[in-house]
Amino acid sequence: MDITARKGRIEDEPADAVLLIHCEGERRLAPAAAAVDARLRGRLAGLITSGEFTGRLGQVSILHVAPGERLRAKRVVLAGLGKRKDASLEKLRQAAGSAAKAIRTAGAKSFAVPVQDLAGLLTSVPAVNRVRDVAQTLAEGAILGLYRFTTYYTERTDETAKAVRKMSVVAGDPRALAQARQGVRQGQIIGEATTYVRDLCNHPANVVTPTYIANEAKKIARERGVRAKVLDRPAMQRLGMGALLGVARGSHEPPKFVILEYRGGPRGARPVALVGKTVTFDSGGISLKPADNMELMKADMTGGAVVLATVRAASRLRLPVNIVALIPATENMPGGSATKPGDILTSLSGKTIEVINTDAEGRLILADGLTYANRYKPSVVVDIATLTGACAVALGKHAIGLLGNNDRLIGELKAAGEQCGERAWQLPLWEEYYEQIKSDVADVKNTGGRPGGTITAAAFLSKFVGGARWAHLDIASTDWSDREQAYIPKGATGVGARLLIRFLSNRANGRKAIGRRANGKRT
Ligand code: BES
Ligand code: MN
Ligand code: ZN
Repeated sequence: MDITARKGRIEDEPADAVLLIHCEGERRLAPAAAAVDARLRGRLAGLITSGEFTGRLGQVSILHVAPGERLRAKRVVLAGLGKRKDASLEKLRQAAGSAAKAIRTAGAKSFAVPVQDLAGLLTSVPAVNRVRDVAQTLAEGAILGLYRFTTYYTERTDETAKAVRKMSVVAGDPRALAQARQGVRQGQIIGEATTYVRDLCNHPANVVTPTYIANEAKKIARERGVRAKVLDRPAMQRLGMGALLGVARGSHEPPKFVILEYRGGPRGARPVALVGKTVTFDSGGISLKPADNMELMKADMTGGAVVLATVRAASRLRLPVNIVALIPATENMPGGSATKPGDILTSLSGKTIEVINTDAEGRLILADGLTYANRYKPSVVVDIATLTGACAVALGKHAIGLLGNNDRLIGELKAAGEQCGERAWQLPLWEEYYEQIKSDVADVKNTGGRPGGTITAAAFLSKFVGGARWAHLDIASTDWSDREQAYIPKGATGVGARLLIRFLSNRANGRKAIGRRANGKRT
């Protein structure tokens, strides 16, 4: 979808639809809506006074412009935001997602939305960049809401033929226009980062293999001018990545270890290391999973997809940070030479691991990824992984599990999550939990039993971070949605990309602020 910011008045916009957002329970129309309604002879006000449109979050009503009504748009779409006192960027993202879908269903190919009244509503957002943030959220909500995965449909239907091709965010004055321009660009890049993840996760595992992921990384490197390096099995053997190789043993698909380096920050500044679990299919291995829902394990590479998307977006946004992205990629299959329960693997760190359950494979490949991260002397290490089913038990489907060894880093991730609408919640990593992963025969074992499964998995990871400041994001319950929501379709959610991009851009802004304080000298 082509998204632009334009200067103008909404009542003069030529588009298949104009979108107006209205708060629940309010009789008075916002100025832009009132200007449109003046040309509709009060039909919008009629929808509201009749009680047909209440402004409830997610509600959408569509009016057709009648002959004689002096409006250049063909339709007027009224979308609810919920109560004014609860207005937030997240609610706006949802309203935009629901409205964009209704606009597509109506057959409209373009729509325009005024930005300034919305900025006036969102008093919880810092005023300086409010128009920018609103424009970003509108663009994000629309892109995410309109997302569909249709690659494998071979029959075109009336529904799939419909597409919204153009969105305009309309601002009334040059200052707002400048902010709206910035906002839509950010929204587009961040929205597309998420849909990129969704695509990679929705594609089946016979297409998205470790080799496919490595090729995506090379493509990003080519297009974005970042550095990519792909280690194949012999290279991993030379290095001694015994944990990753142990998982790959059961599969005929060759494993890959992908390294992407983005340098947008000051030369010599320590990079942020991102490590993404990339199991392109997790059958469980010899500890085979039950058949029910096993097909969802094609999305066990979400962490790696998020890391790819984040590097791509960071480069498109020209974020002034250095990033090293590490992507250990493999299948987890029960082949004749697969790792067996009881086998002992020697990891890249030299630590030995007793494999109790071959289905606890994510932490094995991450162990080598985390160890490798140390080579870069990173300022912080963040890993992201569909790691434990237990995460859904602990937190349900509405929070990313967050653990780590540094409170400040955890605070940054928690704040970024609240700001972007992908919230993370901390679980404890107390030393008592380490008892559960003590092995009788090796340095550590790969499962800690049922109690606190998300925590013992993170405890295992912590043994491989060296001295780094580290945090772990468990997206096992949030990466997939079994129902359609306002801007989240059924299937892969793409969760994590918005969070990591926000985390990185906050860091970049933080450094700018610190740099200014230090007499213009960048730190
Ligand atoms: N990929 C799974 C975790 C998962 C489960 C992600 C459900 C998304 C939905 C992971 O590799 C796994 O199998 N974990 C095991 C660990 C156990 C054997 C200690 C689990 O959660 O059951
Ligand atoms: Mn598993
Ligand atoms: Zn897994």
